[in-house]
Amino acid sequence: MNLEALNKIAVKMVTPGKGILAADESGGTIKKRFDAIKVDNTEENRRDYREFMFRTTAAMKDHISGVILFDETIRQKAKDGTTLVSIIEAAGSIPGIKVDAGAKPLAGCSGETITEGLDGLRERFQDYYKLGARFAKWRAVIDIADGIPSTTAVTANTQALARYAALAQENGIVPIVEPEVLMDGGHGIDKCEEVTEWVLKQLYSDLYTARVALEGTILKPNMIIAGKKCSTQNSVEEVASRTIKVLKRCVPPAVPGIAFLSGGQSDIDATAHLDAMHKLGALPWGLTFSYGRALQAAPQKAWSGKAENVAAGQAAFAHRALMNSNAALGKWSKADEA
Ligand code: 13P
Repeated sequence: MNLEALNKIAVKMVTPGKGILAADESGGTIKKRFDAIKVDNTEENRRDYREFMFRTTAAMKDHISGVILFDETIRQKAKDGTTLVSIIEAAGSIPGIKVDAGAKPLAGCSGETITEGLDGLRERFQDYYKLGARFAKWRAVIDIADGIPSTTAVTANTQALARYAALAQENGIVPIVEPEVLMDGGHGIDKCEEVTEWVLKQLYSDLYTARVALEGTILKPNMIIAGKKCSTQNSVEEVASRTIKVLKRCVPPAVPGIAFLSGGQSDIDATAHLDAMHKLGALPWGLTFSYGRALQAAPQKAWSGKAENVAAGQAAFAHRALMNSNAALGKWSKADEA
């Protein structure tokens, strides 16, 4: 393992004022997004959509340090024959790849899942490296409901994350480790805090056991936030200070950076929360965004699958990228949204 090279990539991924575009929706997820804007889920539409984001050159250069791709996209060519990977690289951004095979029901644990995809992963990493990937993502899903998560599900998932991360590093690829505690339920912020702290403590113990070098990793966590169905929602400042408290308790400063998922927050909430965390003062790691929905909902709507709307889609993408870039520096204000 060349830890120096891995560390260099990880540090670049969290360059101050830059963040990650999570454009790695699987076939099923992108269909859901396209259904919402009444666009057919064809290979050409998926290509055109992602191509216009990657060709939003100024926003990519200034605000996007890396792009997480799906298997189809890392192999895809733009309309003019250029690979999408080289468009991303030309903008100075790093191509990354989602390598997990999704969350599947965990035997013996009703309502809980285990993320699959470890079999053959070494060979897939070697292939993805040749295709240009320099970092990867694996998402574990932890749900909160009556009686869950169980210790069984938490440890099965953190151990899988650790095995994935070790294999990524062996093959010159920086692992983004993503243990997502879902915000879908009716639980309050205290429960989210308790479960997230547990999951992160377990994760860093398992990464240690698996001999993963933290200097060559990025953490992609949820924020500490009440479930969407909870009647009590907390202030932006509360979410920010609780999130930083838990991260400081759990994430060693050897980790170069933390890049949040948006997890179903509105675009502006996701931006406001990141900004508020930076306004709390200096932090021991880089702290930025790795948003999917919170970066793409606006451009998807503006584009709506029509070639004549590409410029509007690019403008919407550039705006969200700029807002999140400002937030990653603690320099965002709501007035900038107008
Ligand atoms: P969201 O920001 O939409 O949660 O997506 C980020 C991601 O990569 C989830 O795995």
